[in-house]
Amino acid sequence: MKTLRLGFIGSGFIANFLAVSMKQVRHCELSGIYSTSGAEELAAYAKKNGLGETVVYNSVKEVCNHCDAVVIFTPNFTRLTIMEEIAGAVKDGAPIKGVICEKPLGRTVAEAEKMVELAKEANLLTSYFENQLHMNAINNALNQLRPQQNVMGNFTLARSTEEHAGPHSGWFWDPTQQGGGVLSDMGCHSIAVCRHILTPEGKSNRFLEPVAMQCDTSLLKWGQPKYRQQLMDKFGVDYSKTPAEDFVTGIITFKNPETGQLVKGQFTNSWMYDKQGLRLWMDAIGPGYAMEVNSLISPLEIFIGDEAAEGVADAETALEKSTASRGLLAVHSNEADFYGYTTEMQDAVNSFLTGKDGMLDFEYGAEVTYLVQAAYMAAEKGETLDLTDEKVKKELKSYRSLISQGKGADVLFS
Ligand SMILES: NC(=O)c1ccc[n+]([C@@H]2O[C@H](COP(=O)([O-])OP(=O)(O)OC[C@H]3O[C@@H](n4cnc5c(N)ncnc54)[C@H](O)[C@@H]3O)[C@@H](O)[C@H]2O)c1
Repeated sequence: MKTLRLGFIGSGFIANFLAVSMKQVRHCELSGIYSTSGAEELAAYAKKNGLGETVVYNSVKEVCNHCDAVVIFTPNFTRLTIMEEIAGAVKDGAPIKGVICEKPLGRTVAEAEKMVELAKEANLLTSYFENQLHMNAINNALNQLRPQQNVMGNFTLARSTEEHAGPHSGWFWDPTQQGGGVLSDMGCHSIAVCRHILTPEGKSNRFLEPVAMQCDTSLLKWGQPKYRQQLMDKFGVDYSKTPAEDFVTGIITFKNPETGQLVKGQFTNSWMYDKQGLRLWMDAIGPGYAMEVNSLISPLEIFIGDEAAEGVADAETALEKSTASRGLLAVHSNEADFYGYTTEMQDAVNSFLTGKDGMLDFEYGAEVTYLVQAAYMAAEKGETLDLTDEKVKKELKSYRSLISQGKGADVLFS
Protein backbone atom coordinates (compact mmCIF):
# COMPACT_ATOMS: atom_id res chain seq x y z
CA MET A 1 0.00 0.00 0.00
CA LYS A 2 1.19 3.52 -0.77
CA THR A 3 1.63 6.29 1.77
CA LEU A 4 -0.58 9.37 1.77
CA ARG A 5 1.44 12.58 2.16
CA LEU A 6 -0.60 15.11 4.14
CA GLY A 7 -0.09 18.86 4.13
CA PHE A 8 -1.49 20.82 7.08
CA ILE A 9 -2.78 24.39 6.81
CA GLY A 10 -2.77 25.69 10.38
CA SER A 11 -0.84 24.28 13.30
CA GLY A 12 -2.79 25.19 16.41
CA PHE A 13 -4.71 23.12 18.91
CA ILE A 14 -6.47 20.65 16.62
CA ALA A 15 -3.57 20.22 14.18
CA ASN A 16 -1.38 19.17 17.12
CA PHE A 17 -4.02 16.72 18.38
CA LEU A 18 -4.33 15.14 14.92
CA ALA A 19 -0.54 14.90 14.69
CA VAL A 20 -0.63 12.89 17.93
CA SER A 21 -3.26 10.62 16.38
CA MET A 22 -1.09 10.10 13.27
CA LYS A 23 1.43 8.21 15.41
CA GLN A 24 -1.26 5.49 15.55
CA VAL A 25 -2.27 5.60 11.87
CA ARG A 26 -0.54 3.59 9.14
CA HIS A 27 0.23 4.66 5.55
CA CYS A 28 0.41 8.42 6.09
CA GLU A 29 3.01 11.08 6.74
CA LEU A 30 3.01 14.77 7.53
CA SER A 31 4.96 16.16 4.59
CA GLY A 32 4.35 19.90 4.90
CA ILE A 33 2.82 22.69 6.96
CA TYR A 34 1.82 26.26 6.25
CA SER A 35 0.61 28.31 9.20
CA THR A 36 0.74 31.85 10.49
CA SER A 37 2.16 30.51 13.78
CA GLY A 38 3.34 27.27 15.36
CA ALA A 39 4.48 25.54 12.15
CA GLU A 40 8.13 25.05 13.18
CA GLU A 41 7.14 23.52 16.54
CA LEU A 42 4.71 21.09 14.91
CA ALA A 43 7.24 20.15 12.22
CA ALA A 44 9.80 19.42 14.95
CA TYR A 45 7.25 17.22 16.78
CA ALA A 46 6.46 15.38 13.53
CA LYS A 47 10.12 14.68 12.79
CA LYS A 48 10.83 13.57 16.36
CA ASN A 49 7.90 11.15 16.26
CA GLY A 50 8.61 9.61 12.87
CA LEU A 51 5.70 11.27 11.05
CA GLY A 52 7.89 12.34 8.13
CA GLU A 53 10.49 14.86 7.04
CA THR A 54 8.01 17.67 7.54
CA VAL A 55 8.84 20.88 5.66
CA VAL A 56 7.49 24.30 6.64
CA TYR A 57 6.22 26.19 3.57
CA ASN A 58 5.32 29.85 3.05
CA SER A 59 1.97 29.45 1.32
CA VAL A 60 -1.04 27.21 0.83
CA LYS A 61 0.02 26.75 -2.79
CA GLU A 62 3.46 25.42 -1.86
CA VAL A 63 1.93 22.89 0.53
CA CYS A 64 -0.44 21.76 -2.25
CA ASN A 65 2.53 21.29 -4.58
CA HIS A 66 4.23 18.92 -2.13
CA CYS A 67 1.53 16.61 -0.77
CA ASP A 68 -1.26 14.22 -1.82
CA ALA A 69 -4.00 15.69 0.37
CA VAL A 70 -4.32 18.99 2.16
CA VAL A 71 -5.96 19.49 5.57
CA ILE A 72 -7.66 22.72 6.67
CA PHE A 73 -6.97 23.28 10.37
CA THR A 74 -7.33 27.07 10.43
CA PRO A 75 -10.00 29.20 12.18
CA ASN A 76 -13.57 29.22 10.82
CA PHE A 77 -13.32 32.71 9.31
CA THR A 78 -10.44 31.62 7.04
CA ARG A 79 -12.19 28.53 5.56
CA LEU A 80 -13.33 29.92 2.24
CA THR A 81 -10.18 31.89 1.46
CA ILE A 82 -8.02 28.84 2.15
CA MET A 83 -10.30 26.60 0.05
CA GLU A 84 -10.15 29.15 -2.79
CA GLU A 85 -6.35 29.08 -2.59
CA ILE A 86 -6.39 25.26 -2.67
CA ALA A 87 -8.69 25.28 -5.71
CA GLY A 88 -6.42 27.87 -7.34
CA ALA A 89 -3.34 25.71 -6.68
CA VAL A 90 -5.04 22.74 -8.33
CA LYS A 91 -5.86 24.91 -11.37
CA ASP A 92 -2.16 25.82 -11.53
CA GLY A 93 -1.19 22.12 -11.56
CA ALA A 94 -0.80 21.10 -7.89
CA PRO A 95 -0.97 17.27 -7.79
CA ILE A 96 -3.24 16.91 -4.71
CA LYS A 97 -6.04 14.34 -4.83
CA GLY A 98 -8.07 15.27 -1.76
CA VAL A 99 -8.96 17.87 0.82
CA ILE A 100 -9.91 17.43 4.48
CA CYS A 101 -11.66 20.14 6.50
CA GLU A 102 -12.25 20.35 10.23
CA LYS A 103 -15.72 21.11 11.51
CA PRO A 104 -17.59 23.37 10.89
CA LEU A 105 -17.52 23.27 7.09
CA GLY A 106 -18.91 26.82 7.03
CA ARG A 107 -20.27 29.49 9.33
CA THR A 108 -23.43 29.70 7.22
CA VAL A 109 -25.20 27.43 4.75
CA ALA A 110 -23.95 29.62 1.89
CA GLU A 111 -20.32 29.28 3.03
CA ALA A 112 -20.57 25.50 3.47
CA GLU A 113 -22.18 25.11 0.02
CA LYS A 114 -19.38 27.17 -1.52
CA MET A 115 -16.84 24.81 0.08
CA VAL A 116 -18.63 21.85 -1.53
CA GLU A 117 -18.71 23.63 -4.89
CA LEU A 118 -15.02 24.58 -4.84
CA ALA A 119 -13.93 21.04 -3.95
CA LYS A 120 -16.13 19.63 -6.73
CA GLU A 121 -14.81 22.07 -9.33
CA ALA A 122 -11.25 21.15 -8.35
CA ASN A 123 -12.20 17.46 -8.67
CA LEU A 124 -10.92 16.69 -5.16
CA LEU A 125 -11.92 13.83 -2.88
CA THR A 126 -13.28 15.24 0.38
CA SER A 127 -13.37 14.32 4.03
CA TYR A 128 -15.23 16.37 6.63
CA PHE A 129 -13.63 15.91 10.04
CA GLU A 130 -16.27 15.25 12.70
CA ASN A 131 -14.36 13.14 15.16
CA GLN A 132 -17.21 12.08 17.44
CA LEU A 133 -18.80 9.91 14.75
CA HIS A 134 -15.56 7.96 14.69
CA MET A 135 -15.42 7.34 18.46
CA ASN A 136 -14.82 3.67 19.17
CA ALA A 137 -16.81 4.01 22.40
CA ILE A 138 -19.92 4.90 20.42
CA ASN A 139 -19.41 2.56 17.48
CA ASN A 140 -18.56 -0.41 19.70
CA ALA A 141 -21.76 0.17 21.69
CA LEU A 142 -23.75 0.33 18.44
CA ASN A 143 -22.17 -2.91 17.20
CA GLN A 144 -22.96 -4.63 20.48
CA LEU A 145 -26.58 -3.53 20.33
CA ARG A 146 -27.35 -4.36 16.67
CA PRO A 147 -28.72 -7.85 17.51
CA GLN A 148 -31.08 -6.33 20.11
CA GLN A 149 -32.18 -3.70 17.59
CA ASN A 150 -32.95 -6.39 15.03
CA VAL A 151 -35.34 -7.98 17.51
CA MET A 152 -36.72 -4.95 19.36
CA GLY A 153 -36.45 -2.01 16.91
CA ASN A 154 -34.12 0.98 16.73
CA PHE A 155 -33.21 3.70 19.22
CA THR A 156 -35.97 6.25 19.70
CA LEU A 157 -33.99 8.83 21.69
CA ALA A 158 -30.33 9.88 21.59
CA ARG A 159 -28.88 12.59 23.84
CA SER A 160 -25.50 14.13 23.29
CA THR A 161 -23.57 16.82 25.13
CA GLU A 162 -20.16 18.40 24.73
CA GLU A 163 -19.22 20.87 27.41
CA HIS A 164 -16.19 22.65 28.81
CA ALA A 165 -15.32 25.95 30.50
CA GLY A 166 -14.61 27.88 27.28
CA PRO A 167 -12.30 27.88 24.22
CA HIS A 168 -8.57 28.53 24.21
CA SER A 169 -8.21 31.10 21.36
CA GLY A 170 -9.77 34.58 21.15
CA TRP A 171 -11.36 34.10 17.70
CA PHE A 172 -13.70 31.37 19.04
CA TRP A 173 -15.29 33.94 21.36
CA ASP A 174 -15.88 36.51 18.61
CA PRO A 175 -19.23 35.46 17.06
CA THR A 176 -18.56 37.38 13.85
CA GLN A 177 -15.34 35.42 13.29
CA GLN A 178 -16.40 32.04 14.62
CA GLY A 179 -19.99 32.04 13.28
CA GLY A 180 -21.76 32.14 16.65
CA GLY A 181 -21.11 30.78 20.13
CA VAL A 182 -21.11 27.27 21.55
CA LEU A 183 -23.89 26.05 19.21
CA SER A 184 -21.78 26.79 16.14
CA ASP A 185 -18.62 25.52 17.83
CA MET A 186 -19.82 22.29 19.47
CA GLY A 187 -23.51 21.88 18.63
CA CYS A 188 -22.35 20.59 15.25
CA HIS A 189 -20.75 17.58 17.01
CA SER A 190 -23.77 16.79 19.15
CA ILE A 191 -26.41 17.14 16.43
CA ALA A 192 -24.39 14.88 14.11
CA VAL A 193 -23.74 12.31 16.84
CA CYS A 194 -27.44 12.08 17.72
CA ARG A 195 -28.29 11.39 14.09
CA HIS A 196 -25.48 8.82 13.82
CA ILE A 197 -26.65 6.90 16.89
CA LEU A 198 -30.28 6.97 15.74
CA THR A 199 -29.47 5.75 12.21
CA PRO A 200 -30.52 2.11 11.69
CA GLU A 201 -27.82 -0.44 10.84
CA GLY A 202 -26.70 -0.43 7.22
CA LYS A 203 -28.36 2.88 6.34
CA SER A 204 -26.45 5.88 5.01
CA ASN A 205 -25.51 8.72 7.37
CA ARG A 206 -28.12 10.91 5.64
CA PHE A 207 -30.92 8.31 5.79
CA LEU A 208 -32.92 9.84 8.64
CA GLU A 209 -34.83 12.91 7.50
CA PRO A 210 -34.66 15.96 9.78
CA VAL A 211 -38.25 17.17 10.15
CA ALA A 212 -38.34 19.58 13.12
CA MET A 213 -35.98 21.68 15.26
CA GLN A 214 -36.49 23.24 18.70
CA CYS A 215 -33.70 25.22 20.31
CA ASP A 216 -32.87 27.63 23.13
CA THR A 217 -29.67 29.69 23.19
CA SER A 218 -28.62 31.58 26.32
CA LEU A 219 -25.74 33.37 27.98
CA LEU A 220 -25.53 32.07 31.53
CA LYS A 221 -22.01 32.84 32.73
CA TRP A 222 -19.90 34.94 30.37
CA GLY A 223 -22.45 37.79 30.13
CA GLN A 224 -22.06 38.65 33.81
CA PRO A 225 -19.88 41.74 34.45
CA LYS A 226 -17.09 39.86 36.27
CA TYR A 227 -16.72 37.26 33.50
CA ARG A 228 -17.22 39.79 30.70
CA GLN A 229 -14.20 41.60 32.11
CA GLN A 230 -12.18 38.37 32.08
CA LEU A 231 -13.01 37.90 28.38
CA MET A 232 -12.04 41.48 27.65
CA ASP A 233 -8.72 41.15 29.52
CA LYS A 234 -7.80 37.75 28.09
CA PHE A 235 -9.17 37.86 24.53
CA GLY A 236 -10.18 41.48 23.84
CA VAL A 237 -13.83 40.53 23.13
CA ASP A 238 -16.66 42.62 24.58
CA TYR A 239 -19.68 40.50 25.54
CA SER A 240 -21.67 43.59 26.54
CA LYS A 241 -21.67 44.57 22.84
CA THR A 242 -21.19 41.38 20.81
CA PRO A 243 -22.19 38.45 23.02
CA ALA A 244 -22.55 34.84 21.92
CA GLU A 245 -24.39 31.99 23.63
CA ASP A 246 -22.46 29.96 26.21
CA PHE A 247 -25.26 27.43 26.66
CA VAL A 248 -27.57 25.79 24.14
CA THR A 249 -30.03 22.97 24.27
CA GLY A 250 -32.40 21.68 21.64
CA ILE A 251 -34.30 18.78 20.20
CA ILE A 252 -34.14 17.63 16.61
CA THR A 253 -36.80 15.26 15.28
CA PHE A 254 -35.97 12.80 12.51
CA LYS A 255 -38.29 10.68 10.40
CA ASN A 256 -37.44 7.22 9.21
CA PRO A 257 -38.48 7.50 5.52
CA GLU A 258 -39.23 3.77 5.27
CA THR A 259 -41.42 3.34 8.36
CA GLY A 260 -42.52 6.92 9.06
CA GLN A 261 -41.39 6.51 12.71
CA LEU A 262 -40.28 9.72 14.45
CA VAL A 263 -37.16 9.64 16.66
CA LYS A 264 -35.52 12.45 18.62
CA GLY A 265 -32.02 13.75 19.29
CA GLN A 266 -31.46 16.08 22.23
CA PHE A 267 -28.28 18.17 22.17
CA THR A 268 -26.76 20.29 24.94
CA ASN A 269 -23.54 22.28 24.74
CA SER A 270 -21.88 24.75 27.04
CA TRP A 271 -18.83 26.91 27.57
CA MET A 272 -19.70 27.32 31.25
CA TYR A 273 -19.12 23.76 32.42
CA ASP A 274 -16.90 24.46 35.41
CA LYS A 275 -15.96 20.89 36.25
CA GLN A 276 -12.74 18.94 35.67
CA GLY A 277 -12.46 19.72 31.94
CA LEU A 278 -14.01 18.64 28.64
CA ARG A 279 -16.91 16.25 29.06
CA LEU A 280 -18.53 14.29 26.25
CA TRP A 281 -21.66 12.54 27.36
CA MET A 282 -23.93 10.55 25.10
CA ASP A 283 -26.73 8.17 25.85
CA ALA A 284 -29.44 6.50 23.85
CA ILE A 285 -32.56 4.59 24.70
CA GLY A 286 -34.21 1.90 22.63
CA PRO A 287 -37.04 -0.50 23.51
CA GLY A 288 -35.52 -2.69 26.21
CA TYR A 289 -31.89 -1.61 25.81
CA ALA A 290 -29.66 1.48 26.21
CA MET A 291 -26.12 2.82 25.90
CA GLU A 292 -24.14 5.55 27.68
CA VAL A 293 -20.71 7.17 27.25
CA ASN A 294 -19.17 9.59 29.75
CA SER A 295 -15.67 10.81 28.92
CA LEU A 296 -15.00 11.90 32.50
CA ILE A 297 -15.24 8.34 33.73
CA SER A 298 -11.88 6.82 32.92
CA PRO A 299 -10.38 3.59 34.24
CA LEU A 300 -7.38 5.78 35.04
CA GLU A 301 -7.51 8.27 37.91
CA ILE A 302 -4.80 10.21 39.66
CA PHE A 303 -4.88 12.03 42.99
CA ILE A 304 -2.94 15.22 43.67
CA GLY A 305 -3.00 16.70 47.18
CA ASP A 306 -2.75 20.44 47.95
CA GLU A 307 0.94 20.31 48.83
CA ALA A 308 1.89 18.40 45.68
CA ALA A 309 -0.35 20.58 43.47
CA GLU A 310 2.26 23.33 43.49
CA GLY A 311 4.44 21.07 41.32
CA VAL A 312 1.84 20.51 38.55
CA ALA A 313 3.12 22.12 35.36
CA ASP A 314 0.35 21.52 32.82
CA ALA A 315 -2.89 19.82 33.82
CA GLU A 316 -4.01 19.72 30.17
CA THR A 317 -1.55 16.93 29.44
CA ALA A 318 -4.02 14.72 31.34
CA LEU A 319 -7.34 16.04 29.99
CA GLU A 320 -8.40 18.55 27.31
CA LYS A 321 -9.52 21.95 28.72
CA SER A 322 -8.80 20.77 32.26
CA THR A 323 -9.63 23.30 34.95
CA ALA A 324 -8.16 21.63 38.03
CA SER A 325 -4.71 20.44 39.02
CA ARG A 326 -5.52 18.82 42.37
CA GLY A 327 -7.89 16.31 43.92
CA LEU A 328 -9.10 13.13 42.24
CA LEU A 329 -8.67 13.67 38.49
CA ALA A 330 -9.74 11.61 35.50
CA VAL A 331 -6.92 10.95 33.04
CA HIS A 332 -7.17 9.56 29.51
CA SER A 333 -4.35 7.21 28.62
CA ASN A 334 -5.00 7.70 24.89
CA GLU A 335 -7.10 10.84 24.54
CA ALA A 336 -6.60 11.27 20.76
CA ASP A 337 -7.97 7.78 20.22
CA PHE A 338 -10.83 8.15 22.71
CA TYR A 339 -12.18 11.27 21.00
CA GLY A 340 -12.09 9.51 17.61
CA TYR A 341 -9.18 11.43 16.03
CA THR A 342 -7.22 8.25 15.26
CA THR A 343 -10.11 6.48 13.54
CA GLU A 344 -11.17 9.60 11.63
CA MET A 345 -7.62 10.07 10.32
CA GLN A 346 -7.36 6.38 9.43
CA ASP A 347 -10.68 6.65 7.57
CA ALA A 348 -9.51 9.64 5.51
CA VAL A 349 -6.15 8.04 4.72
CA ASN A 350 -7.64 4.67 3.67
CA SER A 351 -10.43 6.34 1.70
CA PHE A 352 -8.17 8.71 -0.23
CA LEU A 353 -5.60 5.96 -0.92
CA THR A 354 -8.37 3.89 -2.49
CA GLY A 355 -9.77 6.82 -4.47
CA LYS A 356 -12.87 7.41 -2.31
CA ASP A 357 -14.31 10.25 -0.25
CA GLY A 358 -14.07 9.89 3.52
CA MET A 359 -16.94 8.34 5.50
CA LEU A 360 -18.22 11.91 5.91
CA ASP A 361 -17.78 14.00 2.76
CA PHE A 362 -18.16 17.78 2.34
CA GLU A 363 -21.83 17.38 1.41
CA TYR A 364 -22.42 15.73 4.75
CA GLY A 365 -20.54 18.60 6.45
CA ALA A 366 -22.73 21.13 4.64
CA GLU A 367 -25.81 19.36 5.93
CA VAL A 368 -24.53 19.60 9.50
CA THR A 369 -24.04 23.35 8.98
CA TYR A 370 -27.62 23.51 7.69
CA LEU A 371 -28.94 21.83 10.85
CA VAL A 372 -26.89 24.09 13.12
CA GLN A 373 -28.23 27.15 11.33
CA ALA A 374 -31.75 25.74 11.65
CA ALA A 375 -31.15 25.54 15.40
CA TYR A 376 -30.11 29.23 15.51
CA MET A 377 -33.20 30.16 13.49
CA ALA A 378 -35.51 28.15 15.78
CA ALA A 379 -34.01 29.86 18.85
CA GLU A 380 -34.30 33.33 17.27
CA LYS A 381 -37.93 32.79 16.26
CA GLY A 382 -38.77 31.08 19.55
CA GLU A 383 -40.71 28.40 17.73
CA THR A 384 -40.42 24.82 16.53
CA LEU A 385 -39.07 25.00 12.99
CA ASP A 386 -40.72 22.77 10.40
CA LEU A 387 -37.74 21.50 8.42
CA THR A 388 -39.99 20.06 5.73
CA ASP A 389 -41.47 23.50 4.93
CA GLU A 390 -40.11 24.75 1.56
CA LYS A 391 -40.23 28.35 2.84
CA VAL A 392 -38.01 27.48 5.81
CA LYS A 393 -35.59 25.59 3.55
CA LYS A 394 -35.31 28.61 1.26
CA GLU A 395 -34.85 31.02 4.17
CA LEU A 396 -32.03 28.90 5.59
CA LYS A 397 -30.05 29.09 2.32
CA SER A 398 -29.20 32.76 2.88
CA TYR A 399 -29.65 32.89 6.67
CA ARG A 400 -27.05 34.40 8.97
CA SER A 401 -27.89 34.28 12.67
CA LEU A 402 -28.20 37.55 14.57
CA ILE A 403 -25.56 36.31 17.02
CA SER A 404 -23.04 35.72 14.21
CA GLN A 405 -23.77 39.23 12.87
CA GLY A 406 -22.67 40.67 16.24
CA LYS A 407 -26.29 41.39 17.21
CA GLY A 408 -26.45 38.76 19.95
CA ALA A 409 -27.60 41.32 22.51
CA ASP A 410 -31.02 41.35 20.77
CA VAL A 411 -31.35 37.61 21.29
CA LEU A 412 -29.50 36.93 24.54
CA PHE A 413 -30.26 40.02 26.69
CA SER A 414 -33.97 40.37 25.94
N1 LIG B 1 -12.91 18.38 16.28
C1 LIG B 1 -12.73 19.10 17.34
O1 LIG B 1 -13.08 18.68 18.43
C2 LIG B 1 -12.09 20.44 17.24
C3 LIG B 1 -11.42 20.95 18.36
C4 LIG B 1 -10.82 22.21 18.24
C5 LIG B 1 -10.90 22.92 17.04
N2 LIG B 1 -11.57 22.38 15.97
C6 LIG B 1 -11.68 23.15 14.70
O2 LIG B 1 -10.39 23.26 14.12
C7 LIG B 1 -10.17 24.54 13.57
C8 LIG B 1 -8.93 25.18 14.18
O3 LIG B 1 -9.13 25.30 15.58
P1 LIG B 1 -7.90 25.36 16.61
O4 LIG B 1 -8.49 25.11 17.96
O5 LIG B 1 -6.79 24.52 16.15
O6 LIG B 1 -7.51 26.89 16.49
P2 LIG B 1 -6.17 27.59 17.00
O7 LIG B 1 -6.50 29.02 17.20
O8 LIG B 1 -5.59 26.81 18.14
O9 LIG B 1 -5.15 27.41 15.78
C9 LIG B 1 -5.38 27.98 14.51
C10 LIG B 1 -4.10 27.81 13.67
O10 LIG B 1 -4.34 28.35 12.35
C11 LIG B 1 -3.30 29.29 12.03
N3 LIG B 1 -3.86 30.29 11.10
C12 LIG B 1 -4.78 31.25 11.38
N4 LIG B 1 -5.11 31.94 10.26
C13 LIG B 1 -4.39 31.38 9.25
C14 LIG B 1 -4.30 31.63 7.86
N5 LIG B 1 -5.03 32.55 7.27
N6 LIG B 1 -3.44 30.87 7.13
C15 LIG B 1 -2.69 29.89 7.72
N7 LIG B 1 -2.74 29.62 9.03
C16 LIG B 1 -3.59 30.33 9.79
C17 LIG B 1 -2.85 29.83 13.36
O11 LIG B 1 -1.54 30.36 13.27
C18 LIG B 1 -2.89 28.57 14.21
O12 LIG B 1 -1.75 27.77 13.98
C19 LIG B 1 -11.45 25.33 13.82
O13 LIG B 1 -12.25 25.32 12.68
C20 LIG B 1 -12.15 24.58 14.94
O14 LIG B 1 -13.55 24.67 14.89
C21 LIG B 1 -12.13 21.16 16.04
